Amino acid sequence: MIDAKLYHRMKTKTIKAKPEMVGEKITVSGWVRTHRAQKTFSFVELNDGSEVSNLQIIIENKTPGYESLIEKLQTGAAISVTGTITESPGKGQSVEIQAERFEIIGEAPADYILQKKRHSFEFLRTIAHLRPRTNTFGAVARVRSQMAYATHKFFQEKDFSYVQTPIITASDCEGAGEMFSVTTLNKENMPKQKDGKIDYSKDFFEKEAFLTVSGQLNGEAYAQALTDIYTFGPTFRAENSNTSRHLAEFWMIEPEMAFADLNDNMNLAEDYLKYLVNHALTKCRQDIEFFNKFIDKELIERLTHVVETPCTRLSYTDAIEILNRSGKKFEFQVSWGTDLQSEHERFLCEEHFKGPVILYNYPKTIKPFYMRANDDEKTVAAMDLLVPGIGELIGGSQREERLDILLSNMDMHNLDKETYDWYVDLRKYGSTPHAGFGLGFERLVQYVTGMENIRDVSAFPRYPKHAKF
Ligand code: 4AD
Ligand code: MG
Repeated sequence: MIDAKLYHRMKTKTIKAKPEMVGEKITVSGWVRTHRAQKTFSFVELNDGSEVSNLQIIIENKTPGYESLIEKLQTGAAISVTGTITESPGKGQSVEIQAERFEIIGEAPADYILQKKRHSFEFLRTIAHLRPRTNTFGAVARVRSQMAYATHKFFQEKDFSYVQTPIITASDCEGAGEMFSVTTLNKENMPKQKDGKIDYSKDFFEKEAFLTVSGQLNGEAYAQALTDIYTFGPTFRAENSNTSRHLAEFWMIEPEMAFADLNDNMNLAEDYLKYLVNHALTKCRQDIEFFNKFIDKELIERLTHVVETPCTRLSYTDAIEILNRSGKKFEFQVSWGTDLQSEHERFLCEEHFKGPVILYNYPKTIKPFYMRANDDEKTVAAMDLLVPGIGELIGGSQREERLDILLSNMDMHNLDKETYDWYVDLRKYGSTPHAGFGLGFERLVQYVTGMENIRDVSAFPRYPKHAKF
């Protein structure tokens, strides 16, 4: 029988943060990281996920149950310990727990895979359900949680309203056709129209539906009523990109502001990024130090630099010129009008400017229908924020608020008028200059942790051929 009182537990982080607690009797619960048995006592390193470092527990052999329980104190086992907080004479920790009693809550037999040895990140991806118990993935999860908290804090402090936009949609915001279908039709026997195409009028929504690639269009509707809004939700892209920066399912934060232009948008993006990085450096200090030590030795230096330095801003046209003059051999050569590849984006922020860069005014032909045409008739008021190590972290624009131009853009992109009639209404009634952007949440977490692969900053990553867990 488990003593119910055992569950009145303290997080180790709290104990360590309060030196005045020395002498207090408490109960801690967590998972055994290591156990070393000495002659008359045992050392247990306990971790409850509240911080990266362990809590050391001393269990003397006269503790009740010692003989029978000690062999079950194996790596991975869940235990509860009641004891006294004492100052620790050993190196590397300030306090430890002198156990008075302990309980095995959940055993971990010897075939438990996360023994005290290093596993590759590739291998850990195959045990995504267990990897949060490692130092690295525990730290990623805590930082990710803090970045979500800081996101809400940042926008709420600026009086932006949080809008939850739909996940199922009929529109393809980015126009890239990378959408996952949502259907209840019988896949073995799809209803067909006369021309042989699938008859979606028989489907659940009576039209073709998808998982959304972006909440922006719906976000715009709310910005045209509440002035400043943001979304924060899952988005989906069926692009077959096997890169360290693409997922099929990722989270995006999309602010949208009415009565705002591209400049306001760039300012907001820069403020938001700096706010997040500063929050990571101050509120996640122990985890960031861990990443700096084990994952990326320049992390803290780089992040500190970002907070202190203004982002470089330059036009797409100037960027093309820099790339062409660089003398560097790229896999894809660029010229005015071509889309930038990740190698170009990385060259600009990693080698040329050595810090975050905002590019703006991109060629109209490579951007979606909703972006606002500039007076030169060749470019649109788009912006991308690029950071070293990642490339594009943020993409956004001022939106086309003029009805006639929007309609002709929609024709140019062959958009179905009926699907987007509601979006067009926003230009008919009380249209305003407005702007917004999307920040890829996983790329942000990569950026502040130094983790190289996006598959290691999403708890259960979805990418081609991978939807287990
Ligand atoms: O540049 P994107 O495609 O922009 C939009 O979706 C706009 N509707 C946003 C807006 O203006 N409201 O995507 C925005 C960001 C990218 O900069 C990138 O960080 C991230 O989303 N992103 C991805 N992250 C992970 N995996 C993918 N497959 C991603 N595709 C885009
Ligand atoms: Mg983009």
